Amino acid sequence: MKLIFLGPPGAGKGTQAKILTERYNIPQLSTGDMLRAAVAAGTEVGKRAKSIMDAGGLVSDAIVNQIVSERIDEPDCAKGFILDGYPRTVGQAEVLQDILKEKHTKLDAVIELVVDQNALIDRMKKRVEETIANGGKVRSDDNPEAFAKRLVEYTEKTAPLSKFYSTTGLLRKVDGMTPVKDVTKAIELALK
Ligand code: AP5
Repeated sequence: MKLIFLGPPGAGKGTQAKILTERYNIPQLSTGDMLRAAVAAGTEVGKRAKSIMDAGGLVSDAIVNQIVSERIDEPDCAKGFILDGYPRTVGQAEVLQDILKEKHTKLDAVIELVVDQNALIDRMKKRVEETIANGGKVRSDDNPEAFAKRLVEYTEKTAPLSKFYSTTGLLRKVDGMTPVKDVTKAIELALK
């Protein structure tokens, strides 16, 4: 099973991807997590990405395309994967098509989680509170300024992917406003 999770920041992409990785025994490929790991490790990619991510902008297509292309080649992706947060621009989606074609494989579905904008901001605040309560490190882009920029980036650069994938017949829109368990059920139904 090869899936893309599409949706604005805080829509629940990571939450649902983690649940489905266990159910389908395939890895979650989160470009956000990969980039945060690169930042934490102080790699060249991490150094280039850090200030962009902190401000809520998008890292260059060239960097994320290469990260994903290399990650898909790893053995644990042979049976499938869930792309969480990639592609995020039409340019990335076009490159992904080429990457998959080169590897003689294709996507099964694109799940778009649909969530009201006000709920997104509340979810980000909740995540910050929970992280602090658990003694964790709050994400450097989980603050009102960076989050506002992330929403603008989503609207301008990522939302057009909904149309892009609807023309391929792969798009499944799922209501992301219901409780986590119900969203999972709706995704599973959409995949049948
Ligand atoms: P990334 O890490 O991908 O962040 P994001 O897309 O902004 O998404 P989030 O992780 O904030 O939200 P989510 O949809 O995963 O929601 P979650 O499940 O956590 O990207 C970060 C940055 O990296 C980008 O801004 C960019 O700089 C860079 N980047 C990454 N990919 C890139 C790319 N392809 N190109 C260029 N740059 C890239 O849930 C959020 C909260 O809501 C949680 O607290 C959760 O418990 C709660 N929640 C989830 N579902 C529900 C529900 N149904 N009901 C109630 N609460 C819920």
